Amino acid sequence: MLFNVYPLYDIEPVRAQGSYLWDAKGDRYLDLYGGHAVISVGHTHPRYVQALTEQLNRISFYSNSVRIPQQEELSEKLGQLSGYPDYALFLCNSGAEANENALKLASFHNGRKQVVAFRKAFHGRTAGAVAVTDNAAIVAPINYNEHVTFLPYNDIEAALAGITNETCAVIIEGIQGVGGIQVATDAFLQTLRQRCDETGAILILDGVQCGYGRTGRFFSHQFSGITPDLITMAKGMGNGFPIGGVLISPKFKATYGMLGTTFGGNHLACTAGIAVLDIMNEENLMENATQMGDYLMKGIQQIGGYKELRGRGLMIGIEYDFPVENLRNTLLFDHHLFTGVAGKNIIRLLPSLAIGIDEADLFLEALSKELKVAS
Ligand SMILES: Cc1ncc(COP(=O)(O)O)c(C=O)c1O
Repeated sequence: MLFNVYPLYDIEPVRAQGSYLWDAKGDRYLDLYGGHAVISVGHTHPRYVQALTEQLNRISFYSNSVRIPQQEELSEKLGQLSGYPDYALFLCNSGAEANENALKLASFHNGRKQVVAFRKAFHGRTAGAVAVTDNAAIVAPINYNEHVTFLPYNDIEAALAGITNETCAVIIEGIQGVGGIQVATDAFLQTLRQRCDETGAILILDGVQCGYGRTGRFFSHQFSGITPDLITMAKGMGNGFPIGGVLISPKFKATYGMLGTTFGGNHLACTAGIAVLDIMNEENLMENATQMGDYLMKGIQQIGGYKELRGRGLMIGIEYDFPVENLRNTLLFDHHLFTGVAGKNIIRLLPSLAIGIDEADLFLEALSKELKVAS
């Protein structure tokens, strides 16, 4: 018996390709959710499959007690494509783990304990990550942490007052995902950078959901021109293969035993990570994310009927003034569309960065039709 598994859609996909999944009956479903923003370059991309298959046949795993050249290759390519060539990479297995390690690095670096996080933040479900998460449903009593202060998102005055010489780290999502597709303003991120510099606090940008090309830039905070001290990532990094990472500015010094992992950076995970970057680069998927994001946004604007439309690139939230459960779980699903939600009233779209116009049109046509029924 499984604990705590609640499938939303009553289907069992047996095959997937590009932006589509098929069940055993051969019925096709369009994936506009990417399994929580994970499918970045498309399901079963031939180059990805080939790279992983070849690697699996050679060596799939050994721990970090040996040299793993794929780690260097991944770090090199990630540094180039993301615009952080001088940052070091720590490899782990998930977004929560990346955030845990970033918080730990910050505290090792300045010796402080106080952390500033933001209301409605989501940084993961492990003890440290959930302590900086503002979501009552998943925070257990043991996770309440007197060292964490939650400030309002995008509130410059509150940030100036709340970040002090005692602050170890400020952790923020460039775009809040689970919290409702709230985009940090450029001025807010610039204020955080400046205030962290003034106080000696470490600025951690959580790019787990909004990073890896989804917004049309490698990381969403790059629109604001700021340079974080630590950047965390996972989800799209492996296109379904579990891998996470922290990009670490050159000012951090590693010491023996400081960070570690058994599975992180293994041969297969790195091969998946390298294939994703190669495909993103060669198929111009960040450009596609910008173009298709604009196309979807314009289409949704034309349909109208929403309270607010937010997001960037292919991270889109459509907020309605009614609960979207029926719209998403039944009406859109009847068109064989997978979509996400964020809270009760928001439809969340996180498709593959390789999505095309035909797929976007399938969604727009279904939305236009079903919105009349739902509202
Ligand atoms: C912004 C953000 N940070 C961290 C996480 C946690 O990632 P993982 O589920 O891989 O631990 C998530 C997951 O949804 C996320 O959206």
